[in-house]
Amino acid sequence: MTEQHTLFAKTPRIIAGNWKMHGTKASVQALCAGIAAGLRRDPAVMVFPSFLHLDKVQEMLGTHCRVGAQDISQFPDQGAFTGEVSGAMLRDMGMAAILVGHSERRHVLGESDQLIRLKLQRGWEAGLGVMLCVGETASERDLGATQERLRHQLRSALGQDKLKGPLAVAYEPVWAIGTGRSATTEQVALSLDWLREELAGLGHDPDLPVLYGGSVNMRNAEELLAIDTMDGLLVGGASLQAESFLEIVAQARR
Ligand code: 13P
Repeated sequence: MTEQHTLFAKTPRIIAGNWKMHGTKASVQALCAGIAAGLRRDPAVMVFPSFLHLDKVQEMLGTHCRVGAQDISQFPDQGAFTGEVSGAMLRDMGMAAILVGHSERRHVLGESDQLIRLKLQRGWEAGLGVMLCVGETASERDLGATQERLRHQLRSALGQDKLKGPLAVAYEPVWAIGTGRSATTEQVALSLDWLREELAGLGHDPDLPVLYGGSVNMRNAEELLAIDTMDGLLVGGASLQAESFLEIVAQARR
């Protein structure tokens, strides 16, 4: 089996929790204990805690699921880059994967297409899997520019790759993140088709896992999981409670 298949398989579906900038030492330990108690070993479940908590989470959940980081430095290996964390350091800590291109990093932190592309390459150079997040804003959707936006984001991140590595793509419409308003199943299915078409055009396996994220919770997960072309969910807020995260995992395993 290739790394692509072992890290980002399509079945069972990937359920990933992006913990963003949340958690205290105590709350993260409690969350890990809750997840560990309710989760049988499932390598298709992934959690992305803050850098600060990676070691503890790896210690508590590393045998239950995979642990990844929310970001990576644009610089390789090590060096005089205050505040940065490299792919080599993440790999050394036992991390499996990283998130790249999340809308909060694009729109709140101002990351450019160029920086996202560089971070993706750094992840692969370090032997990490990359979950590339893409998605349109509300105004882009209103203008009918969703397909164009997704195409641009994929092309700028993946076009003319010298290096290829394990990849999953997460479709996360910006207007659905943290708003309580998830995309409809029709909107998700159409965007996933566009993304696969574009991946194929870029010479990537169009069959690689494509996930949905944006206000996924215990109540709407079942409906979203009914989209048979969708290979998993990237969960924000609802991944911060063991009960709701485990319930979403259970629904994906039914
Ligand atoms: P919410 O599930 O809180 O909307 O966040 C989604 C997200 O950004 C996951 O990366």
